[in-house]
Amino acid sequence: MISDMNASDWWKQAVVYQVYPRSFRDANGDGIGDIRGVVSKIDYLAQLGVDAIWLSPFYPSELADGGYDVIDYRDVDPRLGTLGDFDDLVAAAHATGIKVIVDIVPNHTSNKHRFFQEALAAGPGSPARERYIFRPGRGEAGELPPNEWKSSFGGSAWERVDDGEWYLHLFAPEQPDLNWKHPDVRAEFERTLRFWADRGVDGFRIDVAHALAKDLDSLPLEELGRGRGADGLDPLWDRPEVHEIYRSWRRVFNEYEPARFAVAEAWVVPEHQRYYASTEELGQVFNFEFAKAGWRAEDFRRAIEEGLACAELSGSTSTWVLSNHDVPRHPSRFGLPQVAARVHHQLANDWLLRDGATYVEDRALGARRARAALLMEMGLPGSVYIYQGEELGLFEVATIPWDRLEDPQARRTAHGDAVKGRDGCRVPLPWSASDKPAPARWDETFGDGATGSFGFSAPVAGVPRTDAPSAPHLPQPLWYADFAADVQEADPSSMLSFYRRVLALRSELLAPTGDLSLTWMEPEALGAQPDQVIAFERPCADGKTLACVVNFGATDVPAPAGQLLVASGDLAPDGSIPTDTAAWFVC
Ligand code: GLC
Ligand code: CA
Repeated sequence: MISDMNASDWWKQAVVYQVYPRSFRDANGDGIGDIRGVVSKIDYLAQLGVDAIWLSPFYPSELADGGYDVIDYRDVDPRLGTLGDFDDLVAAAHATGIKVIVDIVPNHTSNKHRFFQEALAAGPGSPARERYIFRPGRGEAGELPPNEWKSSFGGSAWERVDDGEWYLHLFAPEQPDLNWKHPDVRAEFERTLRFWADRGVDGFRIDVAHALAKDLDSLPLEELGRGRGADGLDPLWDRPEVHEIYRSWRRVFNEYEPARFAVAEAWVVPEHQRYYASTEELGQVFNFEFAKAGWRAEDFRRAIEEGLACAELSGSTSTWVLSNHDVPRHPSRFGLPQVAARVHHQLANDWLLRDGATYVEDRALGARRARAALLMEMGLPGSVYIYQGEELGLFEVATIPWDRLEDPQARRTAHGDAVKGRDGCRVPLPWSASDKPAPARWDETFGDGATGSFGFSAPVAGVPRTDAPSAPHLPQPLWYADFAADVQEADPSSMLSFYRRVLALRSELLAPTGDLSLTWMEPEALGAQPDQVIAFERPCADGKTLACVVNFGATDVPAPAGQLLVASGDLAPDGSIPTDTAAWFVC
């Protein structure tokens, strides 16, 4: 936990906790997590030792994409609370030294957004349509989409409206893409940034930051559909013009004291990440290479080297992410067979597609690796983003019945491949083992939400219960009982206790130095095989040095010099570090 709330560089080495609000905690018993639910857990988050929370969208939404289809960027979904509740959340977080980051979704709105409703009503050729990307179709009667672009969720990226025009949506059809060349669009989002900054929000997470600028005019649309513009660049993703937008946002961030912070979600090649992270633009960018990596030392080594190089070039700090609301939870990923694949998470997604039946998920192994991964991640310079429930060691819920899924990816596809979608990491959190539900009649491995919800829908003092109490919006498996926060709080060997301990050590020893340097310790010097370890040293408090060693190999690795601070599992009797184990030493 950082001490100076007003320091302008608080984010440089922050631990940021991602809250997916609809699944975090439900204060009024309607089955949907809400803002008062987050308020009720601020003490828990403070005890965990996080510096900031990032809230995934809580705005009014029809939930065509888990809230990333925003109807009104400057309000709270009535099912989640009110702006007054939000103000209380900011106050409660700030009172314990926790910063608040909100999610901005600028690439697309909901189709129920005022702008889109106006565009539909005004008809072809109208100024209101200019705020989106409407085009006539091909074919004799315009019955074919303008080109062959595909949506990230599968199917055509174009949808036809009643009057015959087509609009572009890179995600679900309910998420029309905005035209960022339009001054109204730019003004609308600057207004939104100021709205939240004025309410005390400390920073922003920018959704699909690499898609806003598009080239739709340099060649006929049909030709652009083949993937290259006249300038040889991709017409849709990671275009250079996007940076001008973020330079103008930087001017907005700098109107505040301290300047507001932003982090870009930009799935771009590592060499381009730095432009988004520049101090003239958003300031930080997610490095997803950790989240993509298999359990292999060489994958992590490359990810770390690229992350550090990007930070140096941008003048920012690196970010490390193992899980978020878009990827299968990492203890499951690490417990599945590790095979090289064409695209990241191919095996995990295949396992999910078949409801967890195809490969063995070795949970003991996955948990052991997840603990080791945490020591690696928390030892690194820069910011760490953790996803709700990862501190409980939650595994992916692979068996959710298909008719209970919410993610549009499940009904469509992702990038042309059939997938089960992202609901398995979005199941409402287990807070209390004693509120254990009875087995559900429809599948006895799940809880019957009407009889209990592991404390997810527990009453909160001062919050009126809804008239119609209901089950959690996604079903909770009965094995969640073993992961409930209250059970783990009482167990010093639990994942939660481990997270608390490691976060405390990090803020005590590493964060205060402000020194972001890292020195690799080569495997040979440690007596390890090549590619067996990730090992590095960092300067730490009191002029000492912290060494972090993670063993990915099959044989023990001798401990380096220094005093053992913390280990992710038992060390060998002679102090050496076993397979899938990490340890910190100080000297
Ligand atoms: C981002 C979000 C993801 C969402 C997509 C479209 O990638 O993280 O959840 O589906 O944007 O908004
Ligand atoms: Ca609720």
